[in-house]
Amino acid sequence: MNSMERIIHDVVIVGAGMAGLRAAITAAEYNDKIDVAVISKVYPVRSHSVCAQGGSAAMLGGEDSYDLHSWDTVKGSDFLADQDVVEFFVENATKEIIALEHWGCPWSRTEEGKINQRPFGGHSYPRACFAADMTGFHEMHTLHAKATEFENIKFYDEWFVTSIIVEDRASRGLAAIELKTGNMHVFQSKATIIATGGYARVYEFTTFSHIATGDGMAMAYRAGIPLKDMEFIQFHPTGMVPSGILITGGARGEGGYLINAKNERFMKQYAPEKMELAPRDIVSRAETTEIQEGRGFDGPYGPYIALDLRHLGEEKINERLPLIRDVAIKLGGVDPVEEPIPIKPAAHYSMGGIDANIKTETMASGLYAAGECSCLNMHGANRLGTNSTTDCLVFGAVAGEEAAKFALSHDHREIPKDRIMVEEKIVFDNILGREGDERVPVLRDELRQIMSEKVWVFRKGNQLESALKELKNLKKRFENIKVEDKEKQFNAGLVGALQLGFTLDLSETTIAGALARIESRGAHTRLDFPKRDDNNWLKHTIAYYTTEGPRLEYTPVTITKWPPVARAY
Ligand code: FUM
Repeated sequence: MNSMERIIHDVVIVGAGMAGLRAAITAAEYNDKIDVAVISKVYPVRSHSVCAQGGSAAMLGGEDSYDLHSWDTVKGSDFLADQDVVEFFVENATKEIIALEHWGCPWSRTEEGKINQRPFGGHSYPRACFAADMTGFHEMHTLHAKATEFENIKFYDEWFVTSIIVEDRASRGLAAIELKTGNMHVFQSKATIIATGGYARVYEFTTFSHIATGDGMAMAYRAGIPLKDMEFIQFHPTGMVPSGILITGGARGEGGYLINAKNERFMKQYAPEKMELAPRDIVSRAETTEIQEGRGFDGPYGPYIALDLRHLGEEKINERLPLIRDVAIKLGGVDPVEEPIPIKPAAHYSMGGIDANIKTETMASGLYAAGECSCLNMHGANRLGTNSTTDCLVFGAVAGEEAAKFALSHDHREIPKDRIMVEEKIVFDNILGREGDERVPVLRDELRQIMSEKVWVFRKGNQLESALKELKNLKKRFENIKVEDKEKQFNAGLVGALQLGFTLDLSETTIAGALARIESRGAHTRLDFPKRDDNNWLKHTIAYYTTEGPRLEYTPVTITKWPPVARAY
């Protein structure tokens, strides 16, 4: 048994990516008496947010308007976004970009020295503020530098949170392992913010870092907080073959073409007006169709599509897209100045997440969720590129403020001693102590295979049914794992096992939601139900944890100004 410590803070934030850091800054600024902790399983600037490339969307003037940004987002969402949330988002996006500007973010500039903005898929105005193609990297370093200025923010880097403690619908804190020592501790907090990012690592071919295993989503789900709209997974049209590393949509924003093996810009068949700058769900379906109908290029890793940037010229590529040139040369073996980049759709983002409202409040008092782990109904069935980093900023700030207000007006709720023992037992006896004959990497790879074969861009009822059956079998086999490494310090095997447990639960909600939703909307395309069905399915899926699997309920979509219409680009 460990020497367990009880660590007490007013506000505890899980996750030090863009939403978590933004939340920390706001909470700390709100009142310097509030003491804030940020817990992250990696060093903050190794969070997945640093991989964001293309930009952050915001209305900065010109011919753009809040209404236009809202409309693009609502249409992009295939009308599943809650329009009050979208309007709030766009109206607060601008000030977030300016805040980062004041804190030193090195935005790319126009000739007059203003923040530059590039076109992006689904946006009808160039509103993606960018820092070359390393936007997330620069935003994250700016936020981290700012956060470290506050004496009332304490970082717990390389601590792994294992569960969120919610009792009587009130958040009390969480349990976490300090990876360096392997000891478990409890954090008692007045308010807790979950900002742990997405879970696209349930797929093999993904733009996501290996750390993106949806920990916070799964912990909230297990603690009784429902997950929302989990069937909606975004596939990014340009994952580089064979690794899946992101080649930013900014490459198409700068004028890049997609071509098939017949050298055709095939997007004219699918989105004649927007072409390569149609929203991602449409472009990913188009690429998949081209490949399935035999018009992909043949390659050693299977058929692919080509992203052609050669006509942009070396100077522009070096100025606007230096990272992807480097990545393509070093990890793909092609120089985009001379050759097209092999790409195909890659799992990229989860529109679903922890059910939370416009104030980032979850069902448990004192528990908030922001960023990709949350579902505030902002992106509906399909997110527009560059709306997510801004979402992290806008709603990270909201979560920080709400949590700070809550912490100022509430007392700590004690975590009972026996609860602490239970937390230790779950991790050290039930997971690390298991002596079965199943291995975590094997189950993890099988999970990725199921998700990639049966829960991909195009879905069918019988495939989803079979995926659900196989997933349930994997969950049974998970009961019989063995983590070989029994050491305490930096036990990556234990972390991998905990992460696998999380991804199994999340995948189950995704498949169950996808099986139940018998229509096609945004990124969820059912070949057996190819049409959007607003009469029956203009609603959010809410998944509650039960030991038998998710129980689904539905809630209505909020429409303020834009009733659903046919979606053409
Ligand atoms: O294509 C990209 O640079 C990704 C942007 C995003 O997901 O918002």
